[in-house]
Amino acid sequence: MSKFAGKKAVVTGGTHGMGLAIVKALLDGGAEVLYTGRNEKKIEEARTELKSDKAHVVRSDAASMADIRGLADTAQEKLGRVDYLFVNHGIAEVQTLEETTEESWDRHFAINTKGAFFTVQSLSPLLNDNGAIVFTTVANDLIFPGLSAYSGSKEAVRAISHVLAAELLPRKIRVNSVAPGYIKTPTMGVAGMTEEERRDFEKQGADTSPLKRMGTVEEVAAAALFLAADATFTTNVEFPVDGGFAQGLTGAH
Ligand SMILES: NC(=O)c1ccc[n+]([C@@H]2O[C@H](COP(=O)([O-])OP(=O)(O)OC[C@H]3O[C@@H](n4cnc5c(N)ncnc54)[C@H](OP(=O)(O)O)[C@@H]3O)[C@@H](O)[C@H]2O)c1
Repeated sequence: MSKFAGKKAVVTGGTHGMGLAIVKALLDGGAEVLYTGRNEKKIEEARTELKSDKAHVVRSDAASMADIRGLADTAQEKLGRVDYLFVNHGIAEVQTLEETTEESWDRHFAINTKGAFFTVQSLSPLLNDNGAIVFTTVANDLIFPGLSAYSGSKEAVRAISHVLAAELLPRKIRVNSVAPGYIKTPTMGVAGMTEEERRDFEKQGADTSPLKRMGTVEEVAAAALFLAADATFTTNVEFPVDGGFAQGLTGAH
């Protein structure tokens, strides 16, 4: 029998990158999945690629409270109850101390932080007791100049995840996070980089990782699914998928 047969999952930011890998792994295991994104073209590309009657895509902006409430309504309509919630969506814009604008700061916190919290608030009534929530945060110590707003917004998610882990204990809902290091996605999760900047970013990722390469979206998805489905005696942890980066491993190279 397929590992996730009968399971229902919601994945925010599931139209490309790590989120799409999580959606694919869930579908491969027999789950039914509702996933979100904003960009219509990317939504269509994901829909075409997945071609499954067990995959439901919804255009939903995590910065919009109306969209978040609408997502819960759609989840109830399409899935009924939910076993796993992956709060994966996120944006990053590289702006130095001098360049950072109030608009960019607010956008990061509206999408990455407020959107993450209210997604959980909105969907938690649908979550089955003994279910699981997995946030996508970021590797500890991934300090890249120009990512103050991004790093701050994700650190806040990390803190929120700990509080929610405590609040959801009575329902036996486990709350964990997957913390990626440098993962090879089309955007590297960072908006507005030139081709050259993206190459530098990727090079820094491969050079600074103790395993001397970037991670793959499938490696992040495997960890996220492990936390959701296999780690049934684990809550309130942040699981690094970073090639040893945040563990202070240096190694002989
Ligand atoms: N790549 C890395 O090296 C890395 C490292 C550490 C952490 N992360 C984190 O890991 C997560 C996934 O990253 P990724 O590299 O896979 O990014 P990605 O390829 O850019 O995918 C991000 C996903 O989030 C969605 N999204 C963005 N803003 C949204 C919003 N306001 N409402 C709803 N959906 C939204 C995107 O859809 P649209 O394009 O349609 O908006 C997309 O589906 C993010 O939270 C990111 O911060 C990434």
